[in-house]
Amino acid sequence: MWGGRFKGSLSEAMWRFTTDESDRRLLQVDIEGSIAHVEMLCATNVIEPQEAQTLAKGLRTILAEAEADEFAFQATDEDVHTAVERRLGEIVGETAGKLHTGRSRNDQVALDLRLYLSRAGAQRAEQLHRFAGTVASMAETHAETVIPSYTHLQQAQPTTLGHHLLTYAWMALRGADRFTDAVGRIAMSPLGAGASAGSSLPLDRDAVAKDLELGGVIPNSLDAVGSRDFVSEYVFCCAQSMIELSRLAEEIVLWSTKEFGWLSLGDEVSTGSSALPQKRNPDIAELIRGRAGTVAGDVTAILALQKALPLAYNRDLQEDKRIVFHADDTLASALGAMVELLGGLEFHPPGPGSETVSLDLAEELVRRGVSFREAHTLVGELVALLEARGKTLSEATIDDLIEIDQRFEEADLDRLDPTASVRARATSGSGSPESVRAQIDEIRRRI
Ligand code: ARG
Repeated sequence: MWGGRFKGSLSEAMWRFTTDESDRRLLQVDIEGSIAHVEMLCATNVIEPQEAQTLAKGLRTILAEAEADEFAFQATDEDVHTAVERRLGEIVGETAGKLHTGRSRNDQVALDLRLYLSRAGAQRAEQLHRFAGTVASMAETHAETVIPSYTHLQQAQPTTLGHHLLTYAWMALRGADRFTDAVGRIAMSPLGAGASAGSSLPLDRDAVAKDLELGGVIPNSLDAVGSRDFVSEYVFCCAQSMIELSRLAEEIVLWSTKEFGWLSLGDEVSTGSSALPQKRNPDIAELIRGRAGTVAGDVTAILALQKALPLAYNRDLQEDKRIVFHADDTLASALGAMVELLGGLEFHPPGPGSETVSLDLAEELVRRGVSFREAHTLVGELVALLEARGKTLSEATIDDLIEIDQRFEEADLDRLDPTASVRARATSGSGSPESVRAQIDEIRRRI
């Protein structure tokens, strides 16, 4: 493809070093981009209609081969772009030499990756919605299941399991929005930039962008071929969602322990031990948690790849594909696995300790005009007193309360119940069953 000024050629080892098979998955979008390019070359009279027809027909034949998974790459193909041009030559002969008119692999590869990630991003957003929907259904089942919320992994206030689970649904909705938003910037056309600084031919950049249903053209040709912020952004979208999955994965691991005893893992989502007959392991959750770390690494990798690169295109950028494909594939499979894993969980969490209602008791005093600071101190003293007497907060009597402060009342004893606490929660977004149901409705509406 580029041999004119060369007499010799790369050794086989050097050839293998420079080629990259990971771009083969760009095959379909590469052909689609070429078809749009050919149509534009014809409309602008850069090539003859007859030539355009020949090229487009040949490209469609190759597209059909690609779709049928019958396209045969050869060891001598440097990358996906040269493979398609080589195949086109086999089908249509010399006219194939006109395909690359007004184009470089530099703007071509940027286009291919943008088309690929636009589609992949839409799929990831859809998967995140599916995950959020699964979580919302589980939350519906557990809208009234009372559990402790945690801060510092210490029991904090009572809430519902539905409330806890919905956190992950909200995260996923934002994750989906993040992908959609990124796709808005990704879906732009770099074609017409050529290798770096454009072409003397009357190319119609807008027509190609429109034909490919892209949002527009990238205004600066050096930017079009030399920038990869769109790839960084995509990798970050993957990493953030993976990190969130890893938090849920960690909780599943924790909850499935004997110590927590919050849930049982079904046979279809747990694994055994080759050594210990009694074991039931949460390997799926652990692998999601582990792989999240590798995608976090992809963020560093894609940034480091661009660091200090002079403008515009440099071959370093070839490596962007391996990184983003790894991040995207990992998220796609982890989302699928997590949805299946969730289906195999059976929850039976024990209720929270009664000390979790301490704030409710303090707020009773606040209602009577006591400053929150003082109320906090008084309830703290009560908890300490009960602890010294070997009692929990729910075992307190009115005498214990009065001993601490005269302003406590008999009715305050009714507040010392985690279920009552959750039902009395008045703020929006809290864990009360009504709030959980309202959130589920809103999540479903957004999906
Ligand atoms: N395989 C290359 C890549 O992935 C395509 C562009 C090659 N351009 C070049 N001038 N060698 O980035």
